[in-house]
Amino acid sequence: MQASIFGVGHWAPERRLTNQDLEKMVDTNDEWITTRTGIKERRILEEEKGVSHMCVRAGRQALERAGIGPDTIELIIVATVTPDMPVPATAALAQRELGAGACWGFDINGGCAGFLCALAVGAQFIESGRHRHVLVIGADKMSAVLDYTDRNTCVLFGDAAGAVVLGPDPTDETGIEDFRMRLDGEGAAFLYMTGGGSLHPATRETVDQRMHFVRQDGRTVFKKAVNGMTGASSDLLADNGVSPADLRLLIPHQANLRIIDAVSKKLGLREDQVMVNIEKYGNTTAATIPMAMSEAWEEKRMRRGDRLLLSAFGAGFTWGSLLLTWGMEGPGDSGGIKDL
Ligand code: COA
Repeated sequence: MQASIFGVGHWAPERRLTNQDLEKMVDTNDEWITTRTGIKERRILEEEKGVSHMCVRAGRQALERAGIGPDTIELIIVATVTPDMPVPATAALAQRELGAGACWGFDINGGCAGFLCALAVGAQFIESGRHRHVLVIGADKMSAVLDYTDRNTCVLFGDAAGAVVLGPDPTDETGIEDFRMRLDGEGAAFLYMTGGGSLHPATRETVDQRMHFVRQDGRTVFKKAVNGMTGASSDLLADNGVSPADLRLLIPHQANLRIIDAVSKKLGLREDQVMVNIEKYGNTTAATIPMAMSEAWEEKRMRRGDRLLLSAFGAGFTWGSLLLTWGMEGPGDSGGIKDL
């Protein structure tokens, strides 16, 4: 039995941080940010709220669209690199606020590829027949770990959450078909946040040395991302006998428009086959793919039975691609798990 997506939702805070706002904070300008990244603005969550606030709102919308209540969820997986706190897991905080009942759950740290990791894991519990309803959330409050004096990173990221409900499709016509995920720890030197873990617990020194902020070697990450996402996607398509022309949509991780363009071109995809919303949100780390998926569904860019390719690259390095056949009816149409 394949694991199919029967509900999708997203949530982003109201507050906008535009390129013009950033011009007043660091030595940058709208033209540089737009041409180098494609980003125009990002959303910023209130300081006193944690990532679970966004998880709950995206999760609720996904559940509503799936037509099921929180009490039927058996497993919650949250992909995030910015949990509310190190302990307990954000999944626990989301479970409490959602009012989910007899379920279990945990967090996954897969960087910008976290949502794909969580989706691949969640799908196994449906395929094995162990669970019927799994809630998979990708969410990050990147504003909590950004150094707003570092123009190399602060212009790139924003805050948001996206979520999907996975369930079995008894017809086996839709669902997650296959994935290729990879991990290469050599990447740890190029994208990291060193402070606050067991190696460098928070001290006055780690704060003074600004170790609680994300740092990266942008050029290296860029090249590795293009190669990693293209390679995983080509292998996955070839192994499953799917040609790029068969795809309705590529929903890529939204880190940089130039990365998305390069990957799309290498795969031979037309512009209308690629979902892009980076201009509105920037890189929201684990949230980009479910957010873009939710907006694509709202815009009626895919229907039940359409082939989709998801692809992401992030810290680790962790990267990969996932191939699926879309299971939801369009907005306004009847659908959801209960109708099957
Ligand atoms: N505004 C203006 N200038 C900036 C800038 C900013 N916000 N950020 C960097 N620059 C400068 C650099 O200092 C550099 O100046 P120098 O040549 O005098 O040293 C110059 O712009 C070019 O920097 P470079 O790093 O070569 O630019 P780039 O074309 O590679 O773009 C990134 C930089 C970060 C946008 C790009 O490398 C990128 O997106 N990488 C992937 C990052 C990513 O996605 N990370 C998340 C994990 S998936």
